[in-house]
Amino acid sequence: MGKDKVQIFDTTLRDGEQVPGCKLDTRQKLVIAQRLDDLGVDVIEAGFPISSPGDFKSVNEIAKLVKNATVCGLTRSVKKDIEVAAEAIKDAKRPRIHTGIGTSDSHIKFKFNSNREDILERAVAAVKYAKSFVEDVEFYAEDAGRTDNDYLARVCEAVIKAGATVLNIPDTTGYCLPEEYGAKMKYLKEHVKGIEKAILSCHCHNDLGLATANSISGVINGARQIECTINGIGERAGNTSLEEVVMILKQHPYLNLDTGINTRLLYDTSQIVSEKMGMPVQPNKAIVGTNAFAHSSGIHQDGVIKKRETYEIIDPKDVGVSESSIVLTARSGRAALAYRAKKVGYELTKLQLDAVYEKFLQFADRKKEIVDEDIHQIVETSNIDVKSLA
Ligand code: KIV
Ligand code: ZN
Repeated sequence: MGKDKVQIFDTTLRDGEQVPGCKLDTRQKLVIAQRLDDLGVDVIEAGFPISSPGDFKSVNEIAKLVKNATVCGLTRSVKKDIEVAAEAIKDAKRPRIHTGIGTSDSHIKFKFNSNREDILERAVAAVKYAKSFVEDVEFYAEDAGRTDNDYLARVCEAVIKAGATVLNIPDTTGYCLPEEYGAKMKYLKEHVKGIEKAILSCHCHNDLGLATANSISGVINGARQIECTINGIGERAGNTSLEEVVMILKQHPYLNLDTGINTRLLYDTSQIVSEKMGMPVQPNKAIVGTNAFAHSSGIHQDGVIKKRETYEIIDPKDVGVSESSIVLTARSGRAALAYRAKKVGYELTKLQLDAVYEKFLQFADRKKEIVDEDIHQIVETSNIDVKSLA
């Protein structure tokens, strides 16, 4: 049986760019948009066109540039927002309007000072209006994570009737547990009339560190789109990380779900976004952190040198990293030292290695990490006659 495709909806340039201090200019956004298109994302959320003239221009330029992905503009359920978004994306090969409204009781009462029936009417009106400009209309039920499932199902049913092609179910505050978020998707699949006409989409925030787990639970339970950002950047603790969900689906083939992402471009894309946004990637970040394929303890190093798979579940080449790294510290053993010495040109016999290792430990206790120059110094001052590979 062929795998079901999960669409990757990238919102680095919209939700991701909402990070304080990460604002990009149009030129920088175009570089990232091109890269996302090369990466193979299905949808690029290019911005929130009504929010500023600069954002309108960026969305408009991205719409002209992108060749493959759908280009999407965000709106509130407000006529003027929808008109401006429609204008901004009008040159896109595949334009989409992403409109919506808060559906949790908290949003309805405190943000809108309204009631459930009024919100439902506004949602339907927004979708119908967006539909008068484009065929592809995605509806978001903001704070769906804390929205009563029965009411959420009524809203979903009504917006599908109004023409929505994608239903975004955001866990806006990152509150849900994976089981709960998955159950929400399952509930919608089972209770919304006409659900087969629309794609359910996961949009999870990372306030409790569960954005990736929740998105995976969402697709296991029937969603077929994940909204995510490169490096997981986004409001507060961020959004679902694109590289994480893509690699989870790749590494777990029995789930029978796949994406169209060229995973070999993941590392470079992460670096480009980090550099343009001035937002460093934490070293221990899954998939793209500098330590993601680095091994520093003796036991692990010995295993990886014998067979990479002993301590790695992903081949670094699959994500665009040339090789795993063996980091020399005071916790490293002889196998790691011999391996790194060979890489810089020394073939050490067992006796020579014993001698060099003693010296290495003295060095390593003084330094956090032993680099290539240190290896040369250690070997050359060890009073042994080594065979150079050079
Ligand atoms: O988190 C959220 O609810 C959003 C919507 C605007 C889609 O970003
Ligand atoms: Zn969001």
